[in-house]
Amino acid sequence: MRVLGIETSCDETSASVLEGSGDDVALRALVIQSQDVHRIFGGVVPEIASRAHLTAIVPVVEQALRESGGGALDAVAVTNAPGLVGALLVGVSYAKAFAFARGVPVIGVHHMEGHLFATALEHRNAVPPFTALLVSGGHTLLVDVEAWGQYRLLGKTRDDAAGEAFDKVAKLLGLPYPGGPHVERLAAQSAGGTFRFSRPMLRRDQHPGDPDFYDVSFSGLKTAVLNAVKASGLEAERGSIARAFQDSLVETLVEKTARAARQFRRARVVLGGGVACNAALVRAMRERLATRGVEVFAPSPRLATDNAAMIARAGLFRLERGERSALDLNAFASQPIPGLVAA
Ligand code: KG4
Ligand code: ZN
Repeated sequence: MRVLGIETSCDETSASVLEGSGDDVALRALVIQSQDVHRIFGGVVPEIASRAHLTAIVPVVEQALRESGGGALDAVAVTNAPGLVGALLVGVSYAKAFAFARGVPVIGVHHMEGHLFATALEHRNAVPPFTALLVSGGHTLLVDVEAWGQYRLLGKTRDDAAGEAFDKVAKLLGLPYPGGPHVERLAAQSAGGTFRFSRPMLRRDQHPGDPDFYDVSFSGLKTAVLNAVKASGLEAERGSIARAFQDSLVETLVEKTARAARQFRRARVVLGGGVACNAALVRAMRERLATRGVEVFAPSPRLATDNAAMIARAGLFRLERGERSALDLNAFASQPIPGLVAA
């Protein structure tokens, strides 16, 4: 099966062509157009994002089709939730028109299910069963994946998403948007140890079922950073603050993921979302889990951040199960991941 994927949920216009079946899938093309313009505003401006998608969608899809070497498509997969509705609508409308014109089916894909599939495009063994940690700009989800389509939600953030915390801390430290890579670079220049922020979500003697066992919270950490910035006033201390922030966030995510892998006896952990680009997070996860024989899979930065290849991959899974969307497919700001049950 040959699938065209389309992603326009936030500030990346992306198209991709995949070919294969089951877990045997080859990436034929991937084009990602990042909307640089939002940097001026220090965050994504929804209407600007929608209009930029409208301008970019046709050339981005045409480029992906050219790169793929042509050949008939069997279906179109498009992100239809969650995200900025105006941005999603561009991809959804385009995908429906494209599918209708070619006489092929269209399938709506949940953006976070896409992130679950991204790593499998690069690592043959990043397939279920596994423990998934999805850390993006809008979501922080700890999920047990029994099989594709069978997801158990173990934990989530009570407030800020991990990527959002990086972006807000970047702002406090005077770094550009999006802040994650800048905070990571600054943190890497510090040896650590100057500052230490508490890890309130890591209380000991907890058990599965306790409210804080899997959930995370980063708003207190953000306040700790703000107070440290105010108290220090020294340019030289920015690196130490970035390092202390990253250490605290990473330790929290690693501990929660390790708990989940242990409880469900999973031998694999799969990371996804933009924060999975963070080398300190991936390294700490590997160090912590290697001793227990758990393998950690992280996507390359191109597939960790928003892209249409992961949407085509999740769409392929749904299409192979016989699922199709009708031409009244709509876009939604938020929606549960299909197949996700509460723990
Ligand atoms: O998955 P993604 O591309 O978009 C969403 O679906 O939200 O994630 C974007 C987020 C941003 O918050 C960005 O700051 C963060 O991922 N990010 C990073 C790194 N690279 C991107 N956070 C920490 N370290 C990084 N190297
Ligand atoms: Zn995303």
